[in-house]
Amino acid sequence: MSTELKMTAEQVMEARHSVRKYDPNATIPQGDLNEILRLAASAPSSWNLQHWRFLVVTDSAIKQKLLPIAYNQQQVVDAYATIIILGDLEAYKSARPVYDAALEKGYVTEQVRDTLIGQIEAAYKNNPEIARDEAIRNSSYAAMQLMLAAKAKGYDTCPMGGYDRDALIKELNIPSRYIPTLMLSLGKASEQAHPTARFGLDELVITNSF
Ligand SMILES: Cc1cc2nc3c(=O)[nH]c(=O)nc-3n(C[C@H](O)[C@H](O)[C@H](O)COP(=O)(O)O)c2cc1C
Repeated sequence: MSTELKMTAEQVMEARHSVRKYDPNATIPQGDLNEILRLAASAPSSWNLQHWRFLVVTDSAIKQKLLPIAYNQQQVVDAYATIIILGDLEAYKSARPVYDAALEKGYVTEQVRDTLIGQIEAAYKNNPEIARDEAIRNSSYAAMQLMLAAKAKGYDTCPMGGYDRDALIKELNIPSRYIPTLMLSLGKASEQAHPTARFGLDELVITNSF
């Protein structure tokens, strides 16, 4: 009989916090890592173009090189994996494979496929601003899901925007098609996250209009 206790979605959301201290000896089985990445990739995306890619760094020597790039944030080396979330600036190139597969499965008709591909290509044509917004926006949903999936499986994460983007691109040979949107540590916590508070709904919610 399994003794695994599953957290509800609400419990996972409330339990997730940014952990900065990790057990450097703890590993994550490949099965768990794959499951976390698979769940992250189930995020929604505009036109289902799945703008995210996951650059998963587990090699100690490479993590060590990332340390100064991330302004010496120790979690980059101590956590089992440092994951760079990448956004696809050329996501329109995914339109055909995505919609050919959808057609094959009977999810769309040929006419719908062709219409959608036409829309996507028109939206991206000569519009680097759209490409960048879409890459960042959509890959961020996968990043959030990754953090929640990790928590649900008993691991912790820390999202990091504090890194030298140009140095990161250079060090990991990231092709110009992809933009790094977030760095994440993923591992077994050795110390709990420090508590943080949130604004109340009275400060956050605007009902109907300003
Ligand atoms: C886009 C983004 C960038 C962040 N950058 C860093 C970072 O570079 N280093 C760090 O320790 N935490 C970083 N954080 C974590 C935030 O400080 C943290 O999410 C916030 O204080 C709320 O705390 P909690 O995540 O523990 O609930 C970042 C979070 C986000 C969403």
